[in-house]
Amino acid sequence: MKTMRSSPSRRAFLSTAGSAGAALALGQLLPVPITRAFAQKIKGKERLIVRSMRPEDLETPVELFTTWLTPNDLFYVRHHLYAPDVNLAEWKLMVDGEVGQSITLALDDLKKLPKATVTVTLECAGNGRAFMDPPVPGVQWEKGAVGTARWTGVRLADVLKKAGVKPTGRFVFLNGADKSIGKTPDFIRQVPMEKAMNPDTVLAYEMNGEPLPHLHGAPLRAVIPGWEGAYSVKWLTNITVSDKENEGFFVKTAYRYPTRRVAPGATVDPKDMAPLTGLVVKSIISAPTEGSSVKVGSAVKVMGWAWAGESNVTRVDISLDNGTTWVPARLGRDQARYSWRQFEYEWKATESGSFLVMSRATDDKGRVQPVAGQWNPSGYLWNVIDRVRVNVAA
Ligand code: MTE
Repeated sequence: MKTMRSSPSRRAFLSTAGSAGAALALGQLLPVPITRAFAQKIKGKERLIVRSMRPEDLETPVELFTTWLTPNDLFYVRHHLYAPDVNLAEWKLMVDGEVGQSITLALDDLKKLPKATVTVTLECAGNGRAFMDPPVPGVQWEKGAVGTARWTGVRLADVLKKAGVKPTGRFVFLNGADKSIGKTPDFIRQVPMEKAMNPDTVLAYEMNGEPLPHLHGAPLRAVIPGWEGAYSVKWLTNITVSDKENEGFFVKTAYRYPTRRVAPGATVDPKDMAPLTGLVVKSIISAPTEGSSVKVGSAVKVMGWAWAGESNVTRVDISLDNGTTWVPARLGRDQARYSWRQFEYEWKATESGSFLVMSRATDDKGRVQPVAGQWNPSGYLWNVIDRVRVNVAA
């Protein structure tokens, strides 16, 4: 890919993953493709980039982010396991554990509860993993494992209240209908009670006004606003309230981040890792595209998207001189808590040459995108100042 740095260490590492068998042995490592392969065979997702075909891991090409809400057919897909065949007529949601009374709800029962809608930017914690140096195993996402949708359903709090949470209930386990494959464990995630009870935390049965699509978790998925995407469990079938932490792989081992800055390539002791929660401040440039050419004297619309998890983006700055000076971009009108914001800047390309267009977002907590990435063993939360190279032709 033109957008990829290709360090000697990355090339050496990826060359060890040449065969599918080796790729699996390395924990789903996928070489970064030289040319993009599109998901032409996956109905409704034809324009997405294939990072893995089975299970489907599909990335949105960054130049297709042109609207505040990402259309369902352009929304990225991330599965650890195979998408389950869910019989919608028989589907039920079970709520048990530290509750007054275990309950089972059909979709019609859920639809009788008050409706709730949240607009949320969902981003995979591993978005940008492909840029980690030295490289790390895992799906080699570049910039497009992110998207914004309007999610409609019921509040998780309303469902929990229906079952009656006991004072001992501290964690809420979310389990979907997808089952473990081979040695890959079942995908169960844990949400602390406070976030579960937040009125913005929903169980969604609609996405952008349409019934939730199968690849996005039909008939029901969790949407945990502002937190990394793995909390938003799809094909939800079981909710268990617990007084103790979940012991499963996807809570105890995966989606953890070092509690201190570690050296690139270091092995980190599990006791020095803590669960990821909220997303970091980040921006991506969707136009112009990497490697594009414009004519000298033309007005170039620099456009992109910026988000900050549970915080709000307050500004985005653009640089056209390798980060020496920065100018503010205009922020788009569409906004909602937990949602990305469009930014725009009109660049008068008066000089010919090769230019790096850079974007840097700041949020209301004062967090600013960094110049260099914080390496971590799973390649999570990449949020370095974004850049695309543009040629201004005489
Ligand atoms: N839910 C289940 N049941 N199984 C999964 O593998 N993947 C998670 C989350 N929910 C996953 C899941 C991850 S890692 C992400 S980033 C989001 O779903 C992606 O949601 P999307 O595929 O709708 O974009």
